[in-house]
Amino acid sequence: MTDIHKGLAGVVVDTTAISKVNPDTNSLLYRGYPVQELAARCSFEQVAHLLIHGELPTTDELAQAQRLERSLRPLDPRTRELIDSLPATAHPMDVVRTAVSQLGTFDDTLGQPDGLTDRTLNQGRAMYLFAQLPSIVAYDQRRRRDQKIIEPRDDLGYAANFLWMTFGAEPEPVVEQGFNVSMILYAEHSFNASTFTARVIASTLSDLYSAVTGAIGALKGPLHGGANEAVMATFAEIGTADRAEAWLDEALAAKRKIMGFGHRVYKHGDSRVPTMKAVLDNLVDHYEQQDLGELYTALEQAMTARKDILPNLDYPAGPAYHLMGFDTQMFTPLFVASRVTGWAAHVMEQLESNALIRPLSEYSGPEQREVPGRRD
Ligand code: CMC
Repeated sequence: MTDIHKGLAGVVVDTTAISKVNPDTNSLLYRGYPVQELAARCSFEQVAHLLIHGELPTTDELAQAQRLERSLRPLDPRTRELIDSLPATAHPMDVVRTAVSQLGTFDDTLGQPDGLTDRTLNQGRAMYLFAQLPSIVAYDQRRRRDQKIIEPRDDLGYAANFLWMTFGAEPEPVVEQGFNVSMILYAEHSFNASTFTARVIASTLSDLYSAVTGAIGALKGPLHGGANEAVMATFAEIGTADRAEAWLDEALAAKRKIMGFGHRVYKHGDSRVPTMKAVLDNLVDHYEQQDLGELYTALEQAMTARKDILPNLDYPAGPAYHLMGFDTQMFTPLFVASRVTGWAAHVMEQLESNALIRPLSEYSGPEQREVPGRRD
């Protein structure tokens, strides 16, 4: 009997120099730097540079990257038209996926010799997607609220501009800083499902936009990025902290997966959670939303007491985005805006020493048989 590795669990399929996840020491490094330290000391623009270009930027490199990113923020009128044409009932992840796919059709360098695989071209495309995604997400958030669209501002950094375009006000420091941290924590996580999807697509020598479009599809599911949205749905279902235990007993008896808990790799806790939980605590205090903080703790305590399964990053990120003011359905698109940097880094790495990703399967259907003769 062939050894089957369902879900590729425990299978090492390649090497990567982009991030190192160590579940035993609960650590996550981006190109050697602990993610907690990056979150404490860097802007997301710096971390994006680290992922896309391989190193943290020098002062000059950062200034240059910022100029480029700011110049690439405005949406093409065709993208506005496309988004406007999509039903407001469509999930925002489907809108983001569709818009990114459209951006690929604008890029006429894809047809050049080596246009699909050239690293410099792909770094330029990565910057383009990095700059465009906040504008796409903010545009969609505002159209859903029937609010006037707000243009990007080139005097604001990435986080402040994203929040400005979404809410029409310059963010309070606690929100801007928390948002910046969340973007850094979400940016990269080795061979997770969406990144692997992007690498599979790149391995056929398809293009970066196709890889990112496919990755968005993979991220949407609640077992992956969709969990941050699902956490808020869980909180809404439970209501108040005193109901957490009874709700959980019922949910576990019904064999439901509790969103925001568990991880394929981390079995002793997700290394990113303490940093994101500190952001959530600041927001809870700032907005005096202690009820939400109590519900968070009550469900966590009940879950660890019953199953010893710990929270993952989506557990604190969901309520944090809620307190920042985003609609629940917009949480996973925020994850896209961040993770696009990691996806792009992995696509470029895949292309550097490419091998078509094409695993095998064990056939479990009927043995060979005859096609029935024609019946008149
Ligand atoms: N709620 C209830 N039971 C769980 C959960 C959970 N969240 N996570 C794992 N388990 C149980 C599972 O039922 C199984 O029990 P048993 O052995 O009795 O059948 C055992 O723990 C092992 O679980 P698994 O599903 O085989 O583990 P996995 O490594 O395949 O799954 C996971 C990892 C993330 C899919 C799973 O933990 C899960 O569904 N969590 C909820 C969704 C979620 O929060 N996803 C975000 C993942 S991390 C960040 C990101 O990618 O965005």
